[in-house]
Amino acid sequence: MRYTLWEIVRPYRRQLGVGAVLLAATNGLDKSIPWLLKGAIDALREQRLRAVVVAAAWVVVVAAALWVVRTASRLVIFHVGRQTEFDLRNALCVKLQRIDERFVAVLGSGEMMSRATSDMANVRTLVGFGGMNLVNTVLAYGLALALMFTLSPTLTLWALLPYPGFVLVARGLGRGLFKRSHAIATTTGALSTRLENFIRGIRIQRTYGLEDNERRRFSSLNDRLLRDHLSLVRLRAFLWPLLSLLTAAGTLLVIWRGGSMVLTGELTIGEFVAFNAYLGQLVWPSMAVGFLLAVLQRGRASLVRLQEVLLAPETARGSLAPPPEAGARLSLERVSYAYGAHQATAAAFAAQHVPPARATPTGSAQAANAKATGLSHLRAGTKASNQAAPESPAPSAAASTHALGPQVIRDVSLRLPAQGLVALVGRSGSGKSTLAKLLAGRLLPTSGTAVFGPHALSDLSEAGLAQRIQLCAQEVTLFSTSLRRNLLVGGRFDPAIGKAELLAALQDAGLGPDITSLPQGLDTLVGERGVQLSGGQAQRLALARTLLARAPVMVFDDPISAVDAVTERHLLGTLRALAAQHAVVLITHRASAAALADRIFVLEDGALVEEGTHGELTDKGGIYARLAERQALEAGLVLRGAAR
Ligand SMILES: Nc1ncnc2c1ncn2[C@@H]1O[C@H](COP(=O)(O)OP(=O)(O)OP(=O)(O)O)[C@@H](O)[C@H]1O
Ligand SMILES: [Mg+2]
Repeated sequence: MRYTLWEIVRPYRRQLGVGAVLLAATNGLDKSIPWLLKGAIDALREQRLRAVVVAAAWVVVVAAALWVVRTASRLVIFHVGRQTEFDLRNALCVKLQRIDERFVAVLGSGEMMSRATSDMANVRTLVGFGGMNLVNTVLAYGLALALMFTLSPTLTLWALLPYPGFVLVARGLGRGLFKRSHAIATTTGALSTRLENFIRGIRIQRTYGLEDNERRRFSSLNDRLLRDHLSLVRLRAFLWPLLSLLTAAGTLLVIWRGGSMVLTGELTIGEFVAFNAYLGQLVWPSMAVGFLLAVLQRGRASLVRLQEVLLAPETARGSLAPPPEAGARLSLERVSYAYGAHQATAAAFAAQHVPPARATPTGSAQAANAKATGLSHLRAGTKASNQAAPESPAPSAAASTHALGPQVIRDVSLRLPAQGLVALVGRSGSGKSTLAKLLAGRLLPTSGTAVFGPHALSDLSEAGLAQRIQLCAQEVTLFSTSLRRNLLVGGRFDPAIGKAELLAALQDAGLGPDITSLPQGLDTLVGERGVQLSGGQAQRLALARTLLARAPVMVFDDPISAVDAVTERHLLGTLRALAAQHAVVLITHRASAAALADRIFVLEDGALVEEGTHGELTDKGGIYARLAERQALEAGLVLRGAAR
C-alpha cells in the first residue's frame, strides 16, 4: 500500500460512484430550470398562458427534487471523506506501533502530532469537499457548455473568450497554493514541536531565567507561520478577484453580443435569458475553482506529509511468537552496535524543515519528500543496516557505515545462564544501557547475533519478545493514569492478576510502605494529572511492573541508582530471589551490589574486558578490583566522617 489518493478512496469506489451519479442528477435538474424558463418566456411572448403555468409548476417540482438529490449527494460523498480519515487514522496508529523509533526522533513528536491531526483533516476535506466540488465543477461546466452550445454556438465562443486567461490565472493560483500550504503545514509542525518543548521546559526556563530567550525562539517561529499565512492570503487576495473579473468580462461580452443577436432575430428572448442563466450558473463554479484549488493543493500537500509517516521504515522485526522454550538461554555472539549518526542532528532536522520544491503524491513522492525533509539517509541507513550481515559486505554496507555513528558496543559475546543473577558493571557512558537494549531485543545488532534458544531475537515478534525478555529501562516511563494500570502494563493487562499479586510486586519492589500512605491506594492517579511520584518511587514502580511480567529473562538497568541503602538491600534481596527461577541481569555502578551476583561482566568503552565472580575479579586486580576498592574506601570515609 502506497497510500496514494486512489488507494485510500478505493474501498469506497461504489459510494463515490453513487455520489457521482447523484451529482450528475443534481446538475441535470439544475440545468433544466433555465430550459423551462426559456419555454415559459417564449410561450409568454406567444400569449400561451397555460404553457407558462405548466412550466412554472415544473420549476417547483424540479426545485424540490433538486433539494433531495443535492442533499443525498453531499451526505454520500462527505461520508466517504470521514471514512477515509477514519481509515487513515487507524493505519497511522498501527504504523506508529511498528515505526523505526529513530524516524520519530528525527521528526519530533510535535510534528507527528500535527501530521496526525491537521494534515489528517486536510486529507478528509480533500476527499469529501474537494472530491465533490471537483466532480461538480466538471459536470457543471460540461452540461452548461453543451446547452449553451445548443442555444447558440457563436455566443458560446464569445462567452469563452476570457477563459484562456482564466485557465492561466487558475494554474498560477494552484501552484502558489500548493507551495504555500506545504510551507504552512511544515511550520505548524515545527511550532507544535517547539510548543511541546516549551511546555515541558517551563520549569527549567524559570530556574535559569531563560524566558526571554525561549520567547524569542517561539515568536520567531510564530512569526514565520504568520508570514506563511499572510503570503497565502496575499496570493488569494490578488488572484481570486482576478478570476471573478474574468468571469464578469464573459458576462459583459454575452450581453453585448447576445443583445444584438436578439435584435436581429438570431436568438429569441427566451433563448437569450436561458443562455444568461447558464452563464450565471457557471459563475459560482468558476469562482469556486480558486477555492477548490486551495483545498485540493492543501490536501495534496498534507497527503504527502502523511505518506512520509505511513511509508516510514519500520523496526525490522520478525513475526515469530511461539511460547517460550523452557530452559532456553539468551546469548550474544560477537555483537557490535552503532547508533545512527543522524541521531545527533535530530534537533537540527526538526528545526529546519525545508519544504520540497515540487512533490507529487504518487509513488515517487516518498523518495522525493524523504530527501526534502532530510530523512532519506535514515531510510538508506535502515535498509543498509538490515542487510549488512558480517559475511556479506554488500555495496549497501558502505552506505550503512556512512550513516552510522561510532561503535558503542564492540564485538561482545556473552551467554546468560537459564537461572541466576548476572551483574553488568562499567563507568557511565561505557555502553551498559545500549547492551541492555541489545539483550532485550529492543535494538538489533549492527553486526553479530542475539539469540534466545533456537530463535534470533530479530525473528521474534514484539509479543514473542515480550514473553521471553523484559527490560526495566533506566529512564522510567509512567502514564498519567492509576498506579494499578501503570503496573498492569507489565502483566499485559492480564485479568488473572489480582490485587494481592499487584501488592506483592509492589512489596518486592520496596514500594509497599509508600503505597499504603497514598490516599486511594492502587487507584491513586499518578503522573501529570495525579500524585507526582519521587524519582526513586517511579523507579521502583517500574521495577514492580517488570516483576509482574515474569519473563524468563529480566534485565534491570540501574534500578538502585535513586534509592537509599535500606531499600537497596531490600531490592537486591528481591532480585536474588528472582534469580532462583529466572535469568536476571542487574546493571549497576556499585560494586557492593554486583558482589551479590553469580557472575560479573565489566564493560569498558563498549567492550567486555573482565568476567568472573566478585572474588575472582577482586583477586585479579583489574578495573573491577580498582572500582570495588575505591567504593569501599569512600564508604569507609563516609562512615568514619559520620562517627566523628
Ligand atoms: N540514542 C542514542 N543515540 C546516539 N548515541 C547514543 C544514544 N544512546 C546512547 N548513546 C551513546 O552511546 C554510548 C553509551 O551509552 P549508554 O547509555 O549505553 O551508556 P551507559 O553505560 O548506560 O551510561 P550510564 O551509566 O550513564 O547510564 C554513549 O557514548 C552515548 O553517547
Ligand atoms: Mg545507562
